[in-house]
Amino acid sequence: MQSFKEAQKQEELKLKGATSSKLDQSSILPTHLKPDALFETSYGAQKAQILATALELRLFDYLAQCKNDSGRSIQDIRGGIGIKSARPEDFLNALVAMGHLVREGKDLESWRYRNSEEANVFCVRESPLYMGQIMHRFANIRENSFGELTKLLKEESTYKIKEFNELYSKHHTSVPEFAHAMESCIKLAVFKLSESILPRLCDQGLETIADIGGGSGYTLMEFCRHNPRIKCAIDCELGELRDTFTEYLGREEKCAGGERLRERVFFQELDFLKEGSFRFKIPGSNMDKVDGIVFGNVMHNWELKVRKELMRKSFESLSKGGKIIIYDYFLDEESSKLPSYLMSLHMQLVCRGSQFTFAEMKGWLEEAGFSEVVIESLDGRMEACIATKK
Ligand SMILES: C[S@@+](CC[C@H](N)C(=O)[O-])C[C@H]1O[C@@H](n2cnc3c(N)ncnc32)[C@H](O)[C@@H]1O
Repeated sequence: MQSFKEAQKQEELKLKGATSSKLDQSSILPTHLKPDALFETSYGAQKAQILATALELRLFDYLAQCKNDSGRSIQDIRGGIGIKSARPEDFLNALVAMGHLVREGKDLESWRYRNSEEANVFCVRESPLYMGQIMHRFANIRENSFGELTKLLKEESTYKIKEFNELYSKHHTSVPEFAHAMESCIKLAVFKLSESILPRLCDQGLETIADIGGGSGYTLMEFCRHNPRIKCAIDCELGELRDTFTEYLGREEKCAGGERLRERVFFQELDFLKEGSFRFKIPGSNMDKVDGIVFGNVMHNWELKVRKELMRKSFESLSKGGKIIIYDYFLDEESSKLPSYLMSLHMQLVCRGSQFTFAEMKGWLEEAGFSEVVIESLDGRMEACIATKK
């Protein structure tokens, strides 16, 4: 009997024969079709590395220093960021072609380069909306998990962390570096949550809130800055994050113009995988329940069993009428959200998680006892799913 592999091989050969004889008849070559979209995709890694290199060389920071004049020449840039290559113009012009730099002047001698408006806001370290860390993480092909994608699909055996401690202790990632990258990923989404969603929840009585796996505490500090009605916000994290939280608190208090965030934002060391860990320490109160629980890009790190556990524990530790807020990259039924699919593959490559649809999340939340499950768009990539403990 013919094996499946042999049958597959024969089928492939038949198909090859059919295709090449068809293509020989030049009259029916499908020349109305263009490979442009496929090429555009195939350039992705190279384009990404150009952006990563520009960030590494601090090109955008250097060009940002010349906001009010007509830009910098190739010679200026050579000296300014230390380029020795014989033809830096190809690198710079590729950034122009991608729309991240603007160039003026007629020829090599007179060319002057500036940052695009977006690069000035999102790629310059001094900018409050700097997102360069996360862009660099996505774009840096040397350290990108996607190199293992074929292996993942064929063998399911790529190296994956089981717990975050592993990432922090054994992996090359340092805690502050990881926390900075996370912060730069969520800035716009957190701004939308703080400005237009949290005030509504405060109207409904939200005063105490816990951010589970809240990283540096950036999300809660923003929530409190924008919403004076929040009295107590607790960043519930692994002990490794304590120092990063303290450093952020100092930085945020300075940005907020001396606001004493430390009277409202606290750090609680907690391992959410442990049973009984969802007991919140609210200063000056013996209550251990809160009005709001946040999971920001946390559910996607874990397999379904853990996600369901986290939802069950949240339901038990919310006060009546309390809200769970899950912001993350949601998949859509139409498969139009590329960032969500990229994130989902990344999660499968580095840990045991993946992204999910709103319908899936709604089902799990209802199973845990929540009702009134809704979804709100945030920054065009992330969305927030909000549900109530009735
Ligand atoms: C992907 S990051 C998300 C950080 C932040 N919420 C955000 O939106 O950017 C996941 C966070 O979960 C934390 N974490 C992982 N395992 C944890 C555990 N067992 N208990 C508490 N926090 C944990 C990590 O330290 C990390 O900061």
